[in-house]
Amino acid sequence: MKQFNTVAVEGSQFGDEGKGKITDYLASHADVVCRYQGGNNAGHSVEINGVKHALRSLPSGIYNSNVTNVIANGVVVNPFALLDELDENINSGLKTYHLLISNRAHLIMPYHIDLDGAYEEALGSNKIGTTKRGIGPCYADKAKRIGIRAGDLLDKDYLYKRLEGALAVDNKELVAFGKKPYEIQPLYEKLLKASERLIPFITDTSVYLNDMIDAGKKVVFEGAQGSLLDLDHGTYPFVTSSSPTSISIPLNAGIAPMKIHKVLAIMKAYMTRVGSGPMPTEQVNDWGNAIREKGHEYGVVTHRPRRVGYLDLVLLGYTMRITGVTDIACMLFDVLMDVKDLKVCVAYNLDGKEIHYVPSSEPEYARCTPVYKDFKTIPHFDTKKIHCFEDLPKEAKDYLGFVSTYLNAPISILSLGPDRSETVNFKEIF
Ligand code: IMO
Ligand code: MG
Repeated sequence: MKQFNTVAVEGSQFGDEGKGKITDYLASHADVVCRYQGGNNAGHSVEINGVKHALRSLPSGIYNSNVTNVIANGVVVNPFALLDELDENINSGLKTYHLLISNRAHLIMPYHIDLDGAYEEALGSNKIGTTKRGIGPCYADKAKRIGIRAGDLLDKDYLYKRLEGALAVDNKELVAFGKKPYEIQPLYEKLLKASERLIPFITDTSVYLNDMIDAGKKVVFEGAQGSLLDLDHGTYPFVTSSSPTSISIPLNAGIAPMKIHKVLAIMKAYMTRVGSGPMPTEQVNDWGNAIREKGHEYGVVTHRPRRVGYLDLVLLGYTMRITGVTDIACMLFDVLMDVKDLKVCVAYNLDGKEIHYVPSSEPEYARCTPVYKDFKTIPHFDTKKIHCFEDLPKEAKDYLGFVSTYLNAPISILSLGPDRSETVNFKEIF
């Protein structure tokens, strides 16, 4: 069978694993980078020559002038936020970039953001802790068939008709929540204004992606969020409204499943989570606080402090099973240097029974307590001197070796700092 030059970069935990850094790293050898789901709830950091860039909707290949960056049909795009993000980047030095937006991508409208806030308010103590970017309501409108798609911007009359339909439903909901309904004309005009800049990017990205893959070009699919935030496979209801797992790429990008050659799981060396929901290995104590400061574990989008915990191999094993991971990139490994009381979770105890899976029921998962394996403290080492696995101190090799064996996948990339240059490649990805 023909071998395709494609790799999926997938968050294997609760998001914020470092997908942006690895996507940017792989982009330097790639032709195309494609975001396939989520929206500007993502916060992907890329650091180049000491300068930090935070990306939300733009694919993380945007700083590579030879790369075409695709926003595929499965992404939800806030047209106004996207233009602001582009301008921010242009103002801070982005010159040559190539961007394509799927004509089938759904648009996040201001009323989606209002509804996101209204749902969270109504849920009260049951709230999800969303990023309040309108992600859930936009995907809901897609399923309700009242969504507005990027391609609708190309036909002014049709756009008006679509907006009329959406407002007929969503305004009623806003009023029911005591929020202000939207008048069609100002919103329509605002959209037309934004469309002047957006139309040149809009195309059938499925055709483009298939042409590129068939021509043997190197394509990186950049996931947002993480597998445990997946609408189907995550810790429902504390999830996002799309499928971050790489198994959603065919649907979300319009390519055949066999065209995904490798799945690179991005794994933080410990766990973090933002928002509500179960997290068995969470450490609300000095250990967790120290890691939060050392790893700068604060949200890129919402600046919320992230919840911190020990690496959870049960949860990662679950990701491996669902998504067919071929390689692992271990991120923020430098944060573990000199950390006392190092351990990883190897099983859960659920009501007195040892289990090795993630329960589907939220109350059951919340009752799971971790079973740990202890590791020796990894001594401080000079990250610049690490070029291969053997260069690492024994304690680091023990930790990574155990993880790789448990998960039955090679650790192909090790990240030892935020910059592009602080990345060690143990095994070629492309
Ligand atoms: P990246 O791509 C971490 C979380 C939110 C909330 C839940 C639902 O940077 O890894 P949403 O606004 O999507 O409806 O919120 O999902 N969440 C993320 N957590 N990283 C992200 O993206 C996230 N995007 C959403 O905190 O718990
Ligand atoms: Mg994030």
